[in-house]
Amino acid sequence: MARYAAITGTGSYLPETVLTNFDLEKMVDTSDEWIRQRTGIAERRIAEDDTATSDLSVQAARLAIKRAQIDPLEIEMILVATVTPDTFFPSTACYVQKGIGAKNAAAMDISAACAGFLYGLDLANGLIVSGQYDTILVVGGEVFNNIVDWNDRNTCVLFGDGAGAAIVQATEEPKGILASYIGSDGDYADIDLLGIPAGGSRMPVTSEAIDQKLDKIQMNGREVFKLGVRLMPEAAQRALSKANVSVEEIDLLIPHQANLRIIEAVGDRLGVPREKVYINVDKYGNTSAATVIIALDEAIQDGRAKPGDLILLVTFGAGLTWGSTLLRL
Ligand code: ACO
Repeated sequence: MARYAAITGTGSYLPETVLTNFDLEKMVDTSDEWIRQRTGIAERRIAEDDTATSDLSVQAARLAIKRAQIDPLEIEMILVATVTPDTFFPSTACYVQKGIGAKNAAAMDISAACAGFLYGLDLANGLIVSGQYDTILVVGGEVFNNIVDWNDRNTCVLFGDGAGAAIVQATEEPKGILASYIGSDGDYADIDLLGIPAGGSRMPVTSEAIDQKLDKIQMNGREVFKLGVRLMPEAAQRALSKANVSVEEIDLLIPHQANLRIIEAVGDRLGVPREKVYINVDKYGNTSAATVIIALDEAIQDGRAKPGDLILLVTFGAGLTWGSTLLRL
């Protein structure tokens, strides 16, 4: 009997505090008009000071567990995609394990920036189809507000906090993950392109590093924009051709939610009509590893994604990393 990996439950959690573009106008030299025109973002959610990535992830995971109608003890593996872990170690996945009481699981983090959730799905798919595991929790969660320089208008308007989670389970029905593709190119592992220079083994966080804001996100927005517009359609095509599915068959395209102009360009390049492209970047900004799973969960809850639908998820992130997943719900 063939084995497939199906998503049997999803959940997401966004912090309550809303930071609007008008709030940002009071913090940096920017305007609601500029941010909307260039990014499509109107507001984003910000976690409370004492809230870490695992706190948001636990809330999202609890919902996914409830909707999958499983006991947390059935979970055999927890994969948490994040670039904002609670601590260097223990892993955020271990904190999530404690929070949901999934005592029988192995737990680890995935560092693939904004592509992290689809990296997690790809791994879950492989582990399930090979027969090694039956039930895996995959989470994408981020608390960006601590790694953003709130005086840098080039970056602080773009990001938000949030988490999403999916229960992935073995099934014999031909549904779930039909094709998955992930890739990376370390030639772009350039801190000036996108990354945080200080805080790792290369550069400790010294008072000099803090003064120079080297412990905060650095980004060349224009280059990242161009790379995203090129890489996401290429990645999406790889999953489609693996599954021998044409773009016309897709019911919903869920691209990484970084910037409305990137999302629209990816849809246009793929030839997906606008009404089939899911967008929530206006409400949440870029939540990095969490965007596609928050969007998928929302699409399921609001009826945009229905059982039997063919859904294409695609993303890219620092590294560079990228990925695409073709899903039959
Ligand atoms: N408010 C007002 N002006 C601003 C702001 C702001 N928030 N930010 C930048 N500007 C200014 C710049 O300083 C620049 O001024 P100058 O011409 O006097 O130097 C001007 O606006 C134009 O800047 P550009 O960088 O050319 O603007 P662009 O149209 O490229 O938009 C943006 C910038 C929004 C960052 C865009 O390049 C972008 O979205 N890039 C992708 C970034 C992204 O997705 N990052 C996510 C990284 S993680 C991931 O998801 C992969």
